[in-house]
Amino acid sequence: MKILRLASRSLLSFYIILAVIKAFGNISIAYISGLMIDTALKKNSKFQEIFLIAVLGIIALLIILISNIFFQYLKSDIVKNINVELKKKVFNYLVYVGKETYKNELSLVTNDLKQIETQITLNYLLIISDVCSFVFALLIGLANSWILTVIFSIATIIPSIVQTHFTKRIQKTAKSWEKSNSEYTQSASDTINGTETSRLYNTQSTLISYVMKPIKELESNLKEMSFSQNSAYEIIAFVAEIMGFVIPFLIGSLLILSGQLQVGILIMIVQLSNQFINPMIDIYNRINQIKSNEPIYRKIEPALNYTNKHEEDASKPNKFETLTVSHLFYSYSNTPVINDLNLKIKNNEKILFIAPSGWGKTTFLKLLMGILKPLDGDIVVDKLNITSNFEKSHNYFSYINQRPFIFDANLRFNITLGRSVSNEFLNKVIRTAGLEKLIKEKGWDYQVGENGKKLSGGQIQRIEIARALLANRPILLADEATSSLDNKLSLAIHKIILNSPGLTVIEVAHKITDQEKKMFDRVIDLNNKQ
Ligand SMILES: Nc1ncnc2c1ncn2[C@@H]1O[C@H](COP(=O)(O)OP(=O)(O)O)[C@@H](O)[C@H]1O
Ligand SMILES: [Mg+2]
Repeated sequence: MKILRLASRSLLSFYIILAVIKAFGNISIAYISGLMIDTALKKNSKFQEIFLIAVLGIIALLIILISNIFFQYLKSDIVKNINVELKKKVFNYLVYVGKETYKNELSLVTNDLKQIETQITLNYLLIISDVCSFVFALLIGLANSWILTVIFSIATIIPSIVQTHFTKRIQKTAKSWEKSNSEYTQSASDTINGTETSRLYNTQSTLISYVMKPIKELESNLKEMSFSQNSAYEIIAFVAEIMGFVIPFLIGSLLILSGQLQVGILIMIVQLSNQFINPMIDIYNRINQIKSNEPIYRKIEPALNYTNKHEEDASKPNKFETLTVSHLFYSYSNTPVINDLNLKIKNNEKILFIAPSGWGKTTFLKLLMGILKPLDGDIVVDKLNITSNFEKSHNYFSYINQRPFIFDANLRFNITLGRSVSNEFLNKVIRTAGLEKLIKEKGWDYQVGENGKKLSGGQIQRIEIARALLANRPILLADEATSSLDNKLSLAIHKIILNSPGLTVIEVAHKITDQEKKMFDRVIDLNNKQ
């Protein structure tokens, strides 16, 4: 029920009121048909009387219609609001906390959230209206023939016992389905992205086999799941019909025979039984579906419980005098990568690390930024120990990646990352980063395409530099920032990075020209060590 809290309270209250009206309307039909029969069976009944009751019936149906239309509207509106809130919470969590919690985020924000909507949210909403229907029908029934109503009520409990029998199996099949669905999404995305590579090397048929395996798995699991759900439904419906129609009808007829019950009341209660047996079966079925989707709900629970802190003001740069790295040690599953690394760097210093590919350069920068937690050693800025504390450490650093992430958005968004920046500062930054010409030619609103495919490698690298300069952080970490560029571009970019006044630079690279090496204050060549 927690999920319903994402909708506004007033909408939900309104929804409940409409569900009550809907239930009331449904029951009035049963009441009116009983009344009609009894009136007809009375000795001196008049035609007008029956006609009047029929008119009342039509009016009741009209009220039901109007209320049902409102009811449907409100239901969709609540689902919409819950979906928006849910997606907001999940993305908040993914963006603020990071995505380590989830194996396949894409599947989470598409399949899983859709599943939550259809299998959890909607079912809870419909349970509310089923309960209203059930309670009303029960009350009216009790008032008219308590014996029959009690029989009907007992008859509704038995299917619930049958029900519990199926729950575990359904949950198990649902879990397999959910897992294969997430694997399918991953393979589908790989296959779509890999078509060009596959066409080039004539491996289309293997690529199709690659995606067919999870497809078959997914569809078999879906078949299993729907079959176990639907067969359970059929069996429960069978039990409910025997218990809810055949037996009460038998007893009702016997009561009429012995003169203890009016025909009209039997008709009415049989009609009413629709209003409490069907909702009851539906409630079982819905609870089943909610239960079978509990694993998915659990997955998003951390996101639902998360409230993000406000991000800090990025316009106040941190200052520092010395950054000290001492006895840094890191290993990936027992393979040491960084082994007793020591370093002292002063404000404004430009340092270059040269080490072969796979040495651990990227790992070292991630340790500095607090993204990875060292197994030993400390990273201290002035007197502040920032070791493995991303909150504290990241504001000291900007980071230029070899393969920068580019949004499928316009140039402005890609450079500013969506925040508002004064035009003056922005223009200064793009001039420094060498983006002036691009902006002049294409404009700020130029859409750069998926992964920036409408930009050159050099332009992408300059965007990454502009982001760093805009952030105004005191230490720039450059991770193979120019490795994929030609010498001329590489030199141009180094001129930008290394001539920025007041900026401390730690660059790691596996190859770099001698001319560029000379631009640094200190070069640490680890090519021949370790
Ligand atoms: N997430 C990871 N899990 C396990 N091993 C990793 C991981 N990331 C990197 N490595 C390994 O650690 C070593 C150093 O990686 P990396 O820091 O990326 O090196 P460099 O940046 O110097 O090329 C490599 O052997 C790499 O295979
Ligand atoms: Mg690297």
